[in-house]
Amino acid sequence: MSVTKLQRSNNAATEAELQFTANGQLRHLLTLRGLDRDQLNDLLDQSQEFVTVPGQSVVRSKALLGKTVANLFFEPSTRTRASFDLAAQRLGADVLNLDVNTSSRKKGESILDMIYTLEAMQVDVFVVRDAEAGVPAYIARHVNKYVSILNAGESDVSHPTQGLLDLLTIRQHKGEFENLIVAIVGDIAHSRVARSAAEGLTTMGVCELRLISPPTLAPAPGTFPEKAKILHDLDEGLRGADVVMALRIQRERIVNLDGIPGIDEYFARYGVSHERMKLAAPGAIVMHPGPMNRGIEIESSLADSPRSVITQQVRNGIAVRMAVLSTVIQSLASQ
Ligand code: CP
Repeated sequence: MSVTKLQRSNNAATEAELQFTANGQLRHLLTLRGLDRDQLNDLLDQSQEFVTVPGQSVVRSKALLGKTVANLFFEPSTRTRASFDLAAQRLGADVLNLDVNTSSRKKGESILDMIYTLEAMQVDVFVVRDAEAGVPAYIARHVNKYVSILNAGESDVSHPTQGLLDLLTIRQHKGEFENLIVAIVGDIAHSRVARSAAEGLTTMGVCELRLISPPTLAPAPGTFPEKAKILHDLDEGLRGADVVMALRIQRERIVNLDGIPGIDEYFARYGVSHERMKLAAPGAIVMHPGPMNRGIEIESSLADSPRSVITQQVRNGIAVRMAVLSTVIQSLASQ
């Protein structure tokens, strides 16, 4: 399916509008755009209820008993796929992890025919990751009203559940967002994680949002909230920051690597390290969505240090996905 075709078929309601039912409930999660502060807080509050404590039994519920969740990952994933799988199981759902490499899409079946086939098997929720922009919304426009679509990572555009787990982790450490300076460092241009985080943080009223990258990896104009400051000097970006999020270089999305610094130069200029973190606010936390390239965008020992909340982000990923699955299933039932 070409981008042009998807754009043509995606031009009715915006994605932000498409994700709500007629009575304003969240039915699909395609983007964090269009969710207001109360809706985000509500999802974060629900997520907090599902957070597990290491060493204790996990939280379970029967909210999805009799429901089926299908994971369709057309791009690699460890964290998102595993956590959607566990989240659905802990809510009592049947889970289908379709191996897209051996699916009939490889024989030329269109994505919609594939969805309609699984819809006939009574899949209730499709969790979709795709390298092409617009795919989750395209599917959402074509499924029947008993089905929900959750975006699990869309090209460089959006990764809303990652955005939610990042918000939850920040809230757990810092409480209110209004006084926070958040610095996101790395390949901003190609990062769906940075876009969803920026959207969520802006809605939550963060005091200052800094996006720090080499000039060649800076975002295109208009692709981030206006509030975000674009910087190219890491020291300037880290000064006084309460939250520092490092991002990997998304080589799979970069056609021409000319002008991208080599590994040693990149770490020297943009690597988040213990030394560099001395510029940040006392008590600043270090985040990374994973997968991490240790020694490139983040010093390996910093990733394992007490400042790092990376493992907590992963743990929160299950809680957030349980909250999102419970929410959309309730919305489907109440239509
Ligand atoms: N953060 C994230 O999306 O990781 P995965 O690619 O492993 O799912």
